[in-house]
Amino acid sequence: MRGPENVMHPHHILRVLFTADDIAGRVDALVGEIGRTCAAGSLVLVGILRGSFIFFADLVRGLFYHHLHPRIDFTLLQSYGSGTESSGTVEIERDISVDVRGTEVVLVDDILDTGRTLHFAVELMYAKGARSVKSCVLLDKPSRRVAPISADFVGFTVEDVFVVGYGLDYDSYYRELPYIAELTFTHPGAAGGQ
Ligand code: IMP
Ligand code: MG
Repeated sequence: MRGPENVMHPHHILRVLFTADDIAGRVDALVGEIGRTCAAGSLVLVGILRGSFIFFADLVRGLFYHHLHPRIDFTLLQSYGSGTESSGTVEIERDISVDVRGTEVVLVDDILDTGRTLHFAVELMYAKGARSVKSCVLLDKPSRRVAPISADFVGFTVEDVFVVGYGLDYDSYYRELPYIAELTFTHPGAAGGQ
């Protein structure tokens, strides 16, 4: 049994939104969608670091069972800003090294928030010569959108709350949580206090 019941919650966790079992079930469904939609031949999966690392690892292992064997690469994109708010500027900290010319790229990110990061990444893949660019995000916060983008594959839609776990962080903490939870900033020592 995988679930939040068996583990201690770090003390800023307000409530669990998706358990490890919820996530595993949704990832399986997404893998099926990607398997049905994407051609096996020239697929490149690009993970946007750092938040996507756990989601990405589960996705690619699922794709194996759907007989999809994509090439895999990562890009580290930083949307500068402090605390919980991204800024308007996206910078490439680490670029991909796979040649994506003529390929079908699927970008993988943890969460689609303002959309600036993913919008930037899509444009970047087209600029590098990708034939098609799709995107897969675990979480979508449509109410926060600024950039003109929606994802092709979405795990869960969430309200405008700050979430952590399963790769998502606050100040580089909480990424290891096997579940996704809402973070509270009311606790002493939370936002502004560290
Ligand atoms: P966007 O460019 O505003 O769409 O933001 C994308 C990035 O902001 C994501 O890849 C996350 O790293 C981060 N982010 C946005 N919302 C959250 C959240 O609720 N929790 C943790 N990180 C978030
Ligand atoms: Mg982040």
